[in-house]
Amino acid sequence: MQPALIGEIDKTTDGFQDPAFVLNRIVPVHRWVPWIAGYSQAFASDAIGKFTRGPGHVVLDPFAGVGTTLIEADRVGHQAVGFEINPYAAFVATVKLNAHCLNTGVLRDAICRLRQYGEHSETTGILPEFKPPAGFKSRSPFFSPMVLQKVLLVLDFIELEGRAHEDIANVIRLAFGATMVGYSNYSYEPSLSRKVSAGKREVTDFPVIEGLCAKLQEIAEDADWYRENRAGGTRRDGVVYRASFLEDYRAMEQQSVDLIVTSPPYMNNYHYNRNTRPHLYWLGFCDSPKDLKLLEHQNFGTYWQTARDLETVELDSAIKSKEIHDTVAAIREQNPDKGVYGGNGWANYATAYLNDCVRFLQGVRWVLRNNGTALIVLGNSILQGVPVPTDRFMAAIASDCGLDVREISTPRETRVGNSIVDSGARTRQSRESVQLYESVIEVRQPG
Ligand SMILES: C[S@@+](CC[C@H](N)C(=O)[O-])C[C@H]1O[C@@H](n2cnc3c(N)ncnc32)[C@H](O)[C@@H]1O
Repeated sequence: MQPALIGEIDKTTDGFQDPAFVLNRIVPVHRWVPWIAGYSQAFASDAIGKFTRGPGHVVLDPFAGVGTTLIEADRVGHQAVGFEINPYAAFVATVKLNAHCLNTGVLRDAICRLRQYGEHSETTGILPEFKPPAGFKSRSPFFSPMVLQKVLLVLDFIELEGRAHEDIANVIRLAFGATMVGYSNYSYEPSLSRKVSAGKREVTDFPVIEGLCAKLQEIAEDADWYRENRAGGTRRDGVVYRASFLEDYRAMEQQSVDLIVTSPPYMNNYHYNRNTRPHLYWLGFCDSPKDLKLLEHQNFGTYWQTARDLETVELDSAIKSKEIHDTVAAIREQNPDKGVYGGNGWANYATAYLNDCVRFLQGVRWVLRNNGTALIVLGNSILQGVPVPTDRFMAAIASDCGLDVREISTPRETRVGNSIVDSGARTRQSRESVQLYESVIEVRQPG
């Protein structure tokens, strides 16, 4: 296996492969950190413009990710509120929301100091004090030895910087999180896996500090832009709760939200927590698998890995649609010989997901003001060869929860596959006849 050239990063897989996020890659602030966004900055901006009149509204994203909705709401003068269980994503969204008060002069000084620190450590050969996170395990070394040495020096620098400027240290942490997979021996294919397994070269060396300085320079420029382009006014600063919306929505005042723009996890078993393991461990958000287990249980719909072993999971009694009941029954009948890998395991996963749709929509019912709107972006799914039109199911459950369903539109009639679709779980018949798409479900709180 040939070593990668110094400085060569495969740009196609150093971040999450999400077509909606690709559009965010060139937009100030949104481009800081890749994520499975569900939609682009332009979609969030249009939606907010269309459903609010003037600034000063409360805009909520219950599944905030890295804050696409929140930044767009904040920029035009609304109070942005987010819930997010993944501590790394919640951290990123919070740092981005603070872009308007980032002292970019101090950040630029820090970039110079980081560069000097890199040169100094190279000439003197000082050894880093930072230790790799003990609980982080990977099949093969996540960073090659030369890269690791530089990463540890960066983490030393961040700790030093944090003593004087915690906000600047957080921005450097964000930049490290955004770039770390690029110079690791792993990539997103679309799940995090070894580069060699995908026929790529390991990264034996990389100019980590130079790469970080370039990223930080971009962040400084964007923060200047954001401050200049952020609407004035008296609204409160945006906030991200590191909590499950499904469990904690009642912490919000009832009927206090004007607009929700959100994209919950799709029914595709995409493992946000597993795919951010490096970020969670290396940035100190998690110490052991126990921490990840908690996140798995909190995740919308949990995961197939969690639901598959349960006895038959029953649909919530709030779900009335016969089509939903029939679809779950059809999934359950597939491949009975395959144990938890067959229909029963996947039907349990689908049921857990649909039951969480009930909890989510009960939360929407709780927080939305009269006539307030929620725009929910969702992709359909196929489990064990059975098509699952999650958009129509979400709409049916919204109706069961007392919300008015205004419209289901399908702006993306085709989208690329996901872990389930690409696995053998999909039958030949459905591969030919069912297209993956993405819809926007518009629901309204009755007046
Ligand atoms: C499709 S992503 C949303 C991305 C977001 N639109 C953005 O711009 O980054 C779904 C997010 O929901 C989060 N999530 C999953 N279950 C949650 C829960 N119960 N409460 C809050 N967030 C949750 C995941 O961690 C993930 O970041």
